[in-house]
Amino acid sequence: MSYGTFETTYTADAERYTKIPYRRSGASGLDLPAFSFGLWQKFGTDYAFETQREIILHAFDLGITHFDNADRYGPPHRAAQQNFGRVLAKDLASYRDEIILSTKAGNAIGPSPYLKGGSRKSLLASLDHSLRDFGTDYVDIFYSHSPDLSTPIEETVGALVSAVQQGKALYVGLSNYLPERAHEAAVLLREAGVPLLIHQPRYSIFDRRIEQNGLLELAQEDGFGLIVYSPLAQGLLTNKYLETIPADARAVNSTFLSPDVLTDTYRQRASELNKLAESRGQSLAQLALQWVLRQPAVTSALVGASSTWQLDHNLQALSFPELTDEELAIIEEHGVHGTGLNL
Ligand SMILES: NC(=O)c1ccc[n+]([C@@H]2O[C@H](COP(=O)([O-])OP(=O)(O)OC[C@H]3O[C@@H](n4cnc5c(N)ncnc54)[C@H](OP(=O)(O)O)[C@@H]3O)[C@@H](O)[C@H]2O)c1
Repeated sequence: MSYGTFETTYTADAERYTKIPYRRSGASGLDLPAFSFGLWQKFGTDYAFETQREIILHAFDLGITHFDNADRYGPPHRAAQQNFGRVLAKDLASYRDEIILSTKAGNAIGPSPYLKGGSRKSLLASLDHSLRDFGTDYVDIFYSHSPDLSTPIEETVGALVSAVQQGKALYVGLSNYLPERAHEAAVLLREAGVPLLIHQPRYSIFDRRIEQNGLLELAQEDGFGLIVYSPLAQGLLTNKYLETIPADARAVNSTFLSPDVLTDTYRQRASELNKLAESRGQSLAQLALQWVLRQPAVTSALVGASSTWQLDHNLQALSFPELTDEELAIIEEHGVHGTGLNL
């Protein structure tokens, strides 16, 4: 799909580094913004490029320096990276050194045995494609998107190390790894002189796995950061689905969030959480983001957005008083693991 050509008139907001905090990723030297932006949904060829461009530039103006991608993001696969690459080539070209660009490989993007899994072939071929998508020489963070238990961990880790040694990535990350395999990989990476920068798990009031399986503690012990994805449970932890389903919402137009999850139980729990948020003078979205960022092991909350309004609104999350023990207890009562999620 061609979007035609465009010329840039963009200049970044001079105040952008005063708007959100930056937090150190584990024991590394790298700071990430407390809020990072992901291009998983609504950045393919099915949404207007001009809207995507506006959201990306607005995020950068708000101090979001970190943009998260994967070879799979679209539709079709790779489209989100190509769209980001167009904005990078024009509007953000002079800011490349101020951007932390990530990509992931290993989740299937085609029927070929080399377009999936954690083999050296699959990971390094995908990275080369991603660099072409972005039009860059390197990405800042290269991830193994998911563990591949049929491939030796040494081979997957070896491919990540090669990416850094070849100058195609500055740092490496893991996503969706359970603690045991994450630790194994972290040890191998440290031995190879390429310490694990960060792990990307799902975490929200409705997904408590990293509290239960020990990943929060492991991150601190092994010295890697955590960037938590879907902190709003794809929109379930906002007030948008409390009564109806808005026509333009993700639950209407994405295969990853079904309207079937919007049950009476979901609505009852989300409504109680919403009441708590209102009693604090904030929205449910702001409460949910503040809640994940209260964890010292969490470096960054990795959010999506379909409008600049959502970003403006959500990034106010850290302007409210800290959650009290009483408020955290109410969240425990209604923030039941698995609510609205296909776990
Ligand atoms: N590593 C992995 O396996 C993996 C998996 C999933 C995601 N990720 C990463 O995490 C990123 C974020 O995931 P996510 O998009 O699921 O995060 P999320 O922040 O939980 O959900 C974002 C979505 O919620 C809705 N929303 C946001 N703010 C809102 C507000 N104030 N009011 C009402 N609705 C609001 C918007 O959807 P609508 O407006 O469209 O309804 C928005 O796109 C992805 O882009 C990707 O980079 C990684």
